This record gives sequence, structure tokens and C-alpha cells, in this order.
Amino acid sequence: MNGLQLLGTGRCLPGRRVTNDDFARTLDTSDEWIAGRTGIRQRYFCAEGETAASLAVEAARRALEDAGLGPEKVGLCIVATFTADRNTPSLACQVHQALGLPETAFCLDVNAACTGFVAALETARCLLLGGQMAGPCALVLGAEKISGLLDFSDRSTCVLFGDGAAAAVVRLDPQAPWAAVFGARGDSRMLHGGGKEDPYLAMDGRGVFRFAVETVPVCIRAVLDKAGLTLDQVDQLVCHQANSRIIHSIAKKLGQDPARFYENMQRYGNTSAASIPLALDEMRRSGQLQAGQTVLCAGFGAGLTWGGVLLRA
Ligand code: ACO
Repeated sequence: MNGLQLLGTGRCLPGRRVTNDDFARTLDTSDEWIAGRTGIRQRYFCAEGETAASLAVEAARRALEDAGLGPEKVGLCIVATFTADRNTPSLACQVHQALGLPETAFCLDVNAACTGFVAALETARCLLLGGQMAGPCALVLGAEKISGLLDFSDRSTCVLFGDGAAAAVVRLDPQAPWAAVFGARGDSRMLHGGGKEDPYLAMDGRGVFRFAVETVPVCIRAVLDKAGLTLDQVDQLVCHQANSRIIHSIAKKLGQDPARFYENMQRYGNTSAASIPLALDEMRRSGQLQAGQTVLCAGFGAGLTWGGVLLRA
């Protein structure tokens, strides 16, 4: 089926931990409101000197170490991000430099907001399948410094997000199941930011909520249909970690126990493209994700965009 096998993972969180109670000291909000509406209890923000690149480099280093591979095996490096520190060089090229990846490695960033990691996995798989990459493995990351886009006086957005990076080392596995489903609904009102006229992230929270619970279950079913699998044949379900209530609604629509869906937004907030690989790394290191298991990953977010893929652990 020419899917992807996960060989190693790594994550890096920045140094400044901010709890809901910390926010309540400066904003008209509370732990009860934030945790009750979203599940989020704390998040990490970059401290002085920490950047999306520094987080990405460390996450990538840990993933290669976990995979037991040297940089010479890396044929391509793709970083999913919508908050790179600068327009150029790409985060992928900064990882390339810091880790000493081969000169023959293909390096680029992709921006599909919170769908970014899923989009990067499919991009990596197609490039590996194309047969032109110089190494057998791909380093695929999600890395974000969202704090740079937050208005810390706007309680409706700043409490939702966090910074972080996580990486996965993957290679083609002819036996691994694969299916990929993507979609986009161009909409520049629903969720936007980072421009001259709209420097801060702004969104229609309820609209994004409705969008997510409408599209993600359909996307998950489409991935399963394409792969000829049922939900029972998938061992792990990992959705983008924006809001626990969104995940519970998705589970309900699919007739599943919400406990089947991994959650870690409680600890990290919404880290956009980093949220799915952060979950994979936690699951792998805790032993929840075991060799040979099939994982379905589904992302959704700004754009609007959505996407789902399979992975073999
Ligand atoms: N603390 C206390 N009160 C708050 C806060 C806060 N932090 N934020 C908003 N409120 C208030 C509002 O002002 C409003 O007050 P009002 O009724 O007096 O006007 C009230 O709470 C209800 O506000 P809503 O926005 O209607 O609250 P809702 O239940 O919809 O929850 C939330 C808001 C959590 C944002 C929810 O809509 C949501 O999770 N949406 C999805 C957001 C999301 O996933 N975004 C990321 C997408 S990923 C990406 O691509 C970046």
C-alpha cells in the first residue's frame, strides 16, 4: 500500500510555562472557563532567545536519536509551520544547518496551519515514492511560535494557543496502509492573522468549532473508506489538539468512545502544526503507541483546511 512507517519521534517545548491561573491574574478569565470550554490547563511560550527554529532543531535532533539514525539517512526535511521566525531561510534549512543534514537533502516548509503536519506527511510520502530523494528517510516536523501572533489583552484567543515543536522520522513501507484526504475552504474571515492589517490572530471561535465538528468526522470516514479499513482496525486516533470539546463531538459523530482519541491540549494548548507530532511523541515514549500499530491522524484549521492520513508505527 506504500504507506509510511514511523521510525522515531522527538519534541521540544519552550521554557515558559503559563497556567490558566497565570492568565487570570491579568485578564478577566478563569481556570474554570478555559478548562471547561477547551480542556486546556496550561501551555508553554517561548522565553527570551527561544525561537521556532531552536525548538524545531531540538525536536528533530531527538527524533533522529530516537530512530537511531544519523543525518546521512535523511533525504528530505519538511517543516510544517505558519509562524516561522522569518520569511527566509526556511525552518527546514535551519534544521538542515544545525543537524548537518546532507547537501543532497530536499528541504522546505509548508503552511497549512493546523493541518500542516498531516499535509507534510503526505508531501514527504509522495516525494519518497517519486524515487528522486537522495536518502531513504524523511524528517517531518511541526514547529510553531504562536505567541508572537497573540494579543495578550484578548482573552478570547490568547488563552487557546501554545508554542512547541515535534518531529517524526518516517520512511516508505510497502506493507503499511495509506490513504490521504485533504480539503480547503478558502475563507479569510474565519481565522486569520500575521498580516500588516491584522497582526494578531483573530477568529470566529464558534464558526471554527462548527467547521471542525462538521468536516473532521467526514474526513476520517473518507480516509477509512479509501484504505478499506474500519475504525476498529485503527489502533490509535490522533486529531489536532484545539479543543477537547471538538474531539468529543467528533467521537460522538463517529459513534466512538472519546477515550479512543488521544488528548494532550490540557498540557500544551493548541500548538497548531506541532500538535499531532507532539501527541505521537508522547504516545510513543509512554508505550501507548506500539510497533506495528496503525494510527489515523486528522488535522483541521486556518485556511480553512483539513486533512487525514494513516501511519504505521
Ligand atoms: N474567559 C472568560 N470568558 C471568555 C473568554 C475567556 N478566556 N473568552 C471568551 N469569553 C466570553 C466571551 O466574551 C463571551 O461572553 P459574552 O457572552 O458576554 O459575549 C462568552 O465567553 C462566550 O463566548 P463564545 O466565543 O461564544 O464561547 P464558546 O463557547 O464558543 O467558546 C471557544 C469559545 C473556546 C473559542 C470555542 O468557540 C472554540 O474552541 N472554538 C474553536 C476554536 C479553535 O479551535 N481555534 C483554533 C483552530 S486551529 C488553527 O488553525 C489556528
